[in-house]
Order: sequence, then C-alpha cells, then structure tokens
Amino acid sequence: MHVHLPGAQAVQFFTSLMSQKKAASDRMEKIVSLCKRRGFVFQSSEIYGGLNGCWDYGPLGVELRRNLKDFWWRRMVRERDDVVGMDGSILLNRQVWVASGHENTFSDPMVDCRNCKSRLRADQLPEKDGRKQCPVCGSFDLTEPRAFNLMFKTFVGATEDESATTYLRPETAQSIFVQFRNVLEVSRKKLPFGIAQIGKAFRNEINPRNFIFRSREFEQMELEYFCFPNQGLELLEYWLKERLRFYADIGLSKDKLHVHEIPPDERSHYSKGTYDIEFEFPFGVQELEGVAYRTDYDLTQHQRASGKPLEYFDEETKTHLIPHVVEPSAGVDRTLLALLCAAYDEETVTDDKGKSEVRTVLRLHPRMAPIKCGIFPLLKNNELLVKKAREIVEMLRGDMAVFYDETGAIGRRYRRQDEAGTPFGITVDFDTIGENGPANQDTVTVRYRDSMEQKRLAIAEIPGFLREQTT
Ligand code: GAP
Repeated sequence: MHVHLPGAQAVQFFTSLMSQKKAASDRMEKIVSLCKRRGFVFQSSEIYGGLNGCWDYGPLGVELRRNLKDFWWRRMVRERDDVVGMDGSILLNRQVWVASGHENTFSDPMVDCRNCKSRLRADQLPEKDGRKQCPVCGSFDLTEPRAFNLMFKTFVGATEDESATTYLRPETAQSIFVQFRNVLEVSRKKLPFGIAQIGKAFRNEINPRNFIFRSREFEQMELEYFCFPNQGLELLEYWLKERLRFYADIGLSKDKLHVHEIPPDERSHYSKGTYDIEFEFPFGVQELEGVAYRTDYDLTQHQRASGKPLEYFDEETKTHLIPHVVEPSAGVDRTLLALLCAAYDEETVTDDKGKSEVRTVLRLHPRMAPIKCGIFPLLKNNELLVKKAREIVEMLRGDMAVFYDETGAIGRRYRRQDEAGTPFGITVDFDTIGENGPANQDTVTVRYRDSMEQKRLAIAEIPGFLREQTT
C-alpha cells in the first residue's frame, strides 16, 4: 500500500492501522484460546509437541462439524432430485493423478532462506524496499523459487518403489470424475445432474497457517454438476447464488462475504469462469469456496488416459458427448472457522445487584450450534427437580444434542453454555414441580442465549419448539 500523507496525519493513520491489526490478532487469539478451552479444536498429537498443519476436533468441534456437513448434504443432495452422493477412497490409482495433471503441476513456488533454513512460499513473502524478505529471520538471502508438489506421496503394498507409489488425494473431485460412468448408470440421471461428496483431502502445504484455515489434512464438500456445454455459464451463476444462499442459512451474514471473480488470465487454463466466495476473517479477506466452470476438461483427460468411454448419450439428439461441469468446492474446516469468527462476541452485562462482567458468547446459528439446549435443575440436591430435568433430557436426546448440567449457580451454568454457543437453556424450577401452585406446573423457563430473555413453556411443547428453531 502506498499512501502519502502529511506528518501528523500519517502518524495517526498508521497508529490506527496498527491498532486495527492488533485488535484483529487479539480477536483471533481469543477465538483460538476458546477453541482449546471449550474443546472445539486441539493441536494434533499435542502431547508430543504437535504436528504442523494438523488439528483434532474435540467434543464441541465434532458436533459443529457434523452439523455443517449434514446441512450441506441436506441442501446439496437430499433436497434435490438432480444430485446424488458418493464416498470415494482416499488412495486412488496413481494414473488418476497423472491424467488430472496433479502429478506434474499441482505445486506451489517454494524458496529456502539460506540464513535460517526456513522453507517459504515464494508468493507469500513480505517485501522491503522492493526485495523479498524472509518473514522468520528478516534475511534477504533467499534461493530462486522452485516448484514444490503439494501431494503427499505414499506406497501401496509391501514394496517401497516407484511402481508402488501413489498419493493421498489432494481433492475429492477426482474420484467423482473417475466414477462418472458408474454413478450415471446406477442413478439413471439425465443431464444436467450432479454428484456430491464430502471427504478428507491432503496437501503438503509449505506454510500451513491461520489456525485451521490452511492445514495439511482437511475436509472438502464438493459437487460436480454435469451439464450440456451450452448450460455451463448459466449454471455457474446459478451455483454461485445457491452457495451464497447456503452461507446465509448457516448464519454467515452477507456483509462479511465477498464474491471475487477470477480474471481470465488467473483462471486455470480449462476454466471458462471462476468465482471465489470469500469471508472477512480477522486475518483478512480469504477464500472459503471456489465455484468453477471446468468445461469438459476432467472427463476428457480421464477418457483419454484410461481408454474407457466417459461419454453421455443424449436420447434427444442421439449423440454422444462429454458433459461439461460446474464445481462448487468448499472447505469444511474453513467454513467452521468462519462460523466461529462470525459468532464470537463479548459484551458487558450487569446483573440484578448492579455487578458488571464481560460475557463471552458464541452467537452460532441454532442450526449449527453443537449443543441445541442446556437443561438445568435449579438445585442439584432436590430430587424432584433433578428427576424432572433428567426426564426432559431423555425426551430430547434421541433428536438432538442436549447437555445436562446441575453444578454451580444457575448464572454460571448459563455462561458456560453461552461460550459453547448453545442457543437455548431450559431450567426446571419450583414452578415446574408444582410447589408454587398448579398454574405453572409442568412448565419450564426457556432462556435465549442471544437476548438472555426468558419465557415459560409447557414441557410438552419443548420438542416442537426446539425442532422448529434448530433445523
Ligand atoms: N476441486 C477443486 C479444489 O480442490 P481448491 O480451491 O484447491 O479447489 C477448494 O479447494 C476448497 O478446499 C477451498 O476453497 C478451501 O475451502 C478448501 N481448502 C483447500 N486447501 C485447503 C487447506 N490447505 N486447508 C484447508 N482448506 C483447504
């Protein structure tokens, strides 16, 4: 950025820029710390010092992930007649990666710092006075960039030689392309139709960074939507809109999302149009998902390399053709991070006695929230209260994730669930068990996480209320 400002104004501008940067990095630190403290995300192999670029999801993280993937599957597969699913293996025949171009070209430019021996991505280096600098030690003594293939190599079977080599898949898409004929035959779909998949992908990123944003093991949610050539551009627009609707429906507000149209000279050579859907993370605006019109490139490559027909027979025109494809490809981990970043909030609240405290609250969409409802007996040493609360847990747990908590003051229990993003709290009190007369017997207090408002609800109405709010 080149900005020319007079002295005092410049100082003010840069001070404000620095404090914005500091606030953003503080916010990110708080989110990472909450993730660990509450069991969303842990460092993989932590007790051995971790493994760079790998993460584990804890009890709350795994529920959030599951809700995200389930909703994607519901939107992209179950609610549609024109999409079916599949689940491919992580290891594929090496020839798949030769034909797709990954073996030769799936690489990032890498440089070595001769001073501190760090390996760095050449396209992400900071510059000082027009010279690329090592972000670790500040040296300018860097090697020339060279291509580093991002695929993890491995061996299949007992011999460790070239003939046994393959790779952990770097994207899920290729198993869809190579199974195109099989899925077409069994599903008897007509163009346009899609094949969806959610699964792990692996990339030996040179610099994994920004927590779970760029990791070496991650999960993708991909749809390959096959169509006639003349439908491609229109479907690209259609899928962009659909995907934006999806993000709105999981609680990512429009003003934090950006659509970046990739200019022709930056697109893959086979693509006739690509959009990146980006999100305003605390560390900057970054890609969440790519929506790409990949033409007939992938199926053509695999047909040529395998010698097996991957064509579609069009009954109407009685001709064979290789379908074109539009691909919305999203990352589970990135979307999960976006959800956490969007949801994290701190507010000062004052209790009845005038005491103020900071409340940390994850304002996750109820659909995404790991736990849908906390259930609390007002006192843990009252048998009737505990029994009623336990009955409510049993009534709900078959349908949704609920959490029973009887320890500590009720205010503390609410706060613990606020931090976990639980949208509703149900308290069983003396009214519930009829100790204050019949008027409110068999009703409970429902507390809303976001507004902290409370209302009374009949126990019989709880399942319907929660289902409506959380699905
Ligand atoms: N099949 C197309 C494809 O894989 P991509 O843009 O390389 O395209 C799609 O990846 C999505 O996968 C990205 O938008 C991102 O959400 C996710 N993704 C890619 N690399 C990732 C990484 N190292 N860590 C986490 N997510 C990643």
